[in-house]
Amino acid sequence: MNLNNQNEHSANFPHLKKFLEVHAGIVLKDHQQYHVERKVGPLLEEFKCTSLHALLGVAGRNPIAMKKLIALFTINETSFFRDIKVFNYLKKHLFPSLIEQREQYKSLSILSAASSAGQEAYSLGMSLYDTFPSIHDWNISITGVDIDLNMVEKANKGWYTQLEVQRGLPTRSLFKHFTRENRGYVVKPHLKKWIHFRQGNLFKPDVANRKYSLICLRNVLIYFSDEDQAKLLRSMRGRLHNGGILLLGASEIGRQIPTDCFERKQEGNIVWYQAIN
Ligand SMILES: C[S@@+](CC[C@H](N)C(=O)[O-])C[C@H]1O[C@@H](n2cnc3c(N)ncnc32)[C@H](O)[C@@H]1O
Repeated sequence: MNLNNQNEHSANFPHLKKFLEVHAGIVLKDHQQYHVERKVGPLLEEFKCTSLHALLGVAGRNPIAMKKLIALFTINETSFFRDIKVFNYLKKHLFPSLIEQREQYKSLSILSAASSAGQEAYSLGMSLYDTFPSIHDWNISITGVDIDLNMVEKANKGWYTQLEVQRGLPTRSLFKHFTRENRGYVVKPHLKKWIHFRQGNLFKPDVANRKYSLICLRNVLIYFSDEDQAKLLRSMRGRLHNGGILLLGASEIGRQIPTDCFERKQEGNIVWYQAIN
């Protein structure tokens, strides 16, 4: 480890922290400064910067550098059917009522916010496809949005390794919805056609400017400050149809949810938030 680099990175850590908070809402913890040198090394080379200070300057001017810098500090942990009881509850109770609400339009839009490598969006798609054959001819759209371009590209390919499918994907679903390809598995077209991913920052207005029946905003609030969490939850209300549903991650339930936007609902240990008028 180069001591000069380490000192320079420590001195500029507050600037890096500020940069990530302003541009991605991500709040770094102080102990993360010890990993900065290892993480930014390849980017310093790629953008021919001799210091973290210089790299922050480049990232402020160059959107590609900014996306790459942000991607270094996002945590992409995810899996298929993460928190399976939520998917079981969706299939049994929440999807039927959302489908009823959308019956006259024969269309259903879902947002997987902070979609990472796409497993959540594909799990939502499989749940709908398997449980409700009557909507196969509807206009179904499941949109994944993530700030990390690498994850978005991976999710759009819909290709997963053996290890990735072993994390949560039942064998029956693997055979039904995936084909073997390049020593991994790729999502079949009947499912893929419903699901798309795009790069985006949840704090920026939704470029698609559409309303959703369901928003999954799971396991991402924890990276944001309390103030940003409140801001984000309010903006999620604006993206939902009246009566639409917001689902949070298990560890995120109990955060300050704006009560003028959402009504908290609970059955057993499943909690969801219904958008109120
Ligand atoms: C831990 S993963 C959660 C994935 C999935 N929602 C789940 O529950 O399994 C968090 C994701 O949030 C994304 N993320 C962080 N800040 C973001 C922001 N401001 N806008 C969009 N995505 C963001 C990261 O890139 C990462 O892929």
